[in-house]
Amino acid sequence: MTRINITHAVVVTLTATFILLAFDRAGELRKDKYVYAPPAPKAAPVAAAEPDPDKGKPPPHNDKVEDLPEGKNRELTFYTCTACHGVALIKAQGLTRELWDSTLDLMVDKHRMPPIKAEERSEILDYLAEHFPPRRKGRGSDNPFLK
Ligand code: HEC
Repeated sequence: MTRINITHAVVVTLTATFILLAFDRAGELRKDKYVYAPPAPKAAPVAAAEPDPDKGKPPPHNDKVEDLPEGKNRELTFYTCTACHGVALIKAQGLTRELWDSTLDLMVDKHRMPPIKAEERSEILDYLAEHFPPRRKGRGSDNPFLK
């Protein structure tokens, strides 16, 4: 007859417990339950066409078309360029056509100017390059980066 003494029972129980603990720590006992599933990437929030807070507001200046020098495409330039600032910013610049072109890029990329139609853009550039070319003295001409 097999006698199970108390020592025997304790050793078996402990061994079983340790084995169970070992498997549990290794994750063998909860394999399926705790499979790590990374959270699904959130769908990029659709950029709601935010209403332009400045829409409808009068421009922050009292400039008139006549504040720009007379010339072809003056009106177009005035109305395209003075929604956000006066003509002073424009008149302060003397740039080549290429640099005026980059300035327009800057207005669009950085200052949220609505892109201009290619045709109008070219007309505005004609106007700007003709009336605000690089000056002999002052900004533009003595800047080595603009040469
Ligand atoms: C949507 C608004 C907006 C429109 C339209 C706009 N600009 Fe600007 N522009 C800005 C802002 C904002 C600045 C920075 C103003 C400041 O620094 O006070 C700026 C600055 C400038 C400057 C000065 C840049 C400098 O480096 O000193 C020039 C030149 C200029 N704009 C030219 C133009 C021309 C030319 C047009 C038309 C084709 C135009 N802008 C249309 C918003 C606009």
